[in-house]
This record gives sequence, C-alpha cells and structure tokens, in this order.
Amino acid sequence: MDNNELIKKIETVLNNAKAEFNEKINEKNLDEVYKNYLGKNSFLNNISRSISEYEPEIRKIIGMSVNNAKIKIEEIYKNLKEQIKYENSSNDSYSKIDLSLPGVKITQFHKHPITAVLDETVEFFTSMGFEVVEGPEIETAYYNFDALNIPDNHPARDVWDTFYLKNGLIPRTHTSSVQVRTMETKKPPLRVIAPGRCYRYESVDATHLFMFNQVEGLFVDKNVKLSDLKGILEATVKHLLGAKKTRFRPAFYPFVEPGLDLDIECVFCGGKGCNVCKFTGWIEVIPCGMVHPKVFEYAGINPDIYKGFAFGMGFDRLVMLKYNVNDLRLLYSGNMDVLNQF
Ligand code: DAH
Repeated sequence: MDNNELIKKIETVLNNAKAEFNEKINEKNLDEVYKNYLGKNSFLNNISRSISEYEPEIRKIIGMSVNNAKIKIEEIYKNLKEQIKYENSSNDSYSKIDLSLPGVKITQFHKHPITAVLDETVEFFTSMGFEVVEGPEIETAYYNFDALNIPDNHPARDVWDTFYLKNGLIPRTHTSSVQVRTMETKKPPLRVIAPGRCYRYESVDATHLFMFNQVEGLFVDKNVKLSDLKGILEATVKHLLGAKKTRFRPAFYPFVEPGLDLDIECVFCGGKGCNVCKFTGWIEVIPCGMVHPKVFEYAGINPDIYKGFAFGMGFDRLVMLKYNVNDLRLLYSGNMDVLNQF
C-alpha cells in the first residue's frame, strides 16, 4: 500500500467507526466496536506500532492522521458510554421512585417577631392618620440633644449613655432626634412616627443591649391637649399589648412639659405583683409628654399657635412583653429554635 492509499484507508477506517458506533449504541456492542477499532491488534494501532518504519517526512503525516483518527474514535466512544450510563441511571432512579412516599416538606418562613410587631404598630398608627418618617442613625449632637432642649454640659445628657465618634457625630441615643428634623421639613399639622435603631453605651444583659429599636411619635396641631395624648396612647397599648388598665405618672424628659410615663397593669400577674413587674403590679411602657415650647422654637414653629405631644416606645421591650420573652438577647440571636416559636 503506498502512502496516499494508507492515508485514505485511515480516513475510511475512521468513517466506518463513526457509522458503526452510530448503528450499535448499546452497552455490549459499544465495547466490541471500540475493540475492533482501537484494540491491540487493530489496524490503527498496528500502524502506530510500525510508524518508525516510514521515512521521516511521511512518518509525520501518517502519524498525525492516525492520531487524529484515534482521538476522534476515543471521543465518540467516551461520549456514547456516558450517554448510556446516564440513560441507565435515570431509568434506574425513575423506577426507584416510590410514589407512596410523603413529599418533601417545604419550610414556611415568617417575619422576625420584631419586624412583625413593628409592621403591626405602623399599620395601627397609619390607620389613625400617622405617617412614617425616618432620620439618620448617625446623628449630630444638635438633633440628638441641643434641639431637644438638652444643652451641652447639662447633666440631663448623662441619662443617655452616648457613644461618641471621632468625627464628633454620635450614633443616635434615641429616635427623638427625628422630631426637630421632621418639623424643619414638614409644616404642622403633623402626625408622624419614626421607627428605628438607637445605640447606647450599655453593658449587655437580659434587658439591655447597646443597640435597640425605638418608635418615636409626634403629633402637632393647633389645639392638641394632654387628653389627646392619653386617648391615643391608651388605644395603642390596648391594641398592641391587650392592656386593660393603664396609668400615667409624672416623669422628667427635657423635651416635654409635662413629661409622663405610661404604665400598663402587669400582663403577667394581672397586677398582683411578680418578677416581671418587680412586684409593683405595673410595667412602664411609653414615656411621653407635651412638646416643650423650646423644642418648637428650635424647629421654627410658634409655640403660641401650635401644641403637640410626643412619645418614644422602647420597641424591643414591647415585643418582649407581647410574647413573654425574658431575655432580649434571644430576639437578636438568630437562633431558629427560638424564632420558630413565634
Ligand atoms: N427619647 C426618650 C428616651 O429614649 C423617650 C421619650 C420620652 C421620648 C418622652 C419622647 C418623650 O418623645 O416625649 O429615653
């Protein structure tokens, strides 16, 4: 056989192999076809073995065409083998499906309790005509303190254990900072709530974290009275906590006058006295009061024309009371065993 004929023959062998593989695709035949074309004594391997017998220039050409044919056949064989394996395995697993088995249960997720109660709170207030507003978490001392009638060096500042940043700003210690910001941009009449995170330099325990949520409220109009504050806040604790009895106590907050604390009868002991209410029968839930004239002045609102009330709920505490959680840290733990109970 001369060299040209040999090269043609190699091509023919490759084409035959392709055709045969195409014809006989089952596991047994496949290996047979493979052996015929690439087995020890196959035509192609015989050429490879005797390649040194050819002249160097011819050797290169024949070598390339044999190798090319071998690589192609190898590739077809491997692909078909994979295909057969895949078909077998999918047939197999199909026949193994037990239709009587119960399905895989899809886990249903739900809102985090803090988010759920926050949504409920927002819904309740918006139903009374309140609007949700926001302020920055990193705040200036002006909005966090000065504009709320807490001047620099005034001892009242110590009540809010404050983190100070190097640039002079502070992670806000309460959402009351949103009050003056809001009054500067929106003109009365105003009904707003401002939910958000606050930060204090606190050591962490079951009822204190260095980060927590508050919901601030502000109601400003021409004829707002203490009785409006009472009505709205009593309705709030009834709605959110199912409170039956409430009371207001005088309290001091520099940005309100008079300042008050709203207590509810302890929901755990019904007022008899227990660990949660420290045996007083009452639990403090919403600090509040009538907006101080100075705060109106800072905001550019005339206190002779407008009156208002404000309140600030420690929101995490509300969630703890609502769900009887005795350790605040549990709510922030991300522990699904805890969270799945809500
Ligand atoms: N900002 C106060 C605090 O974090 C809570 C507060 C008290 C807010 C009285 C008010 C208020 O709006 O009127 O301790």
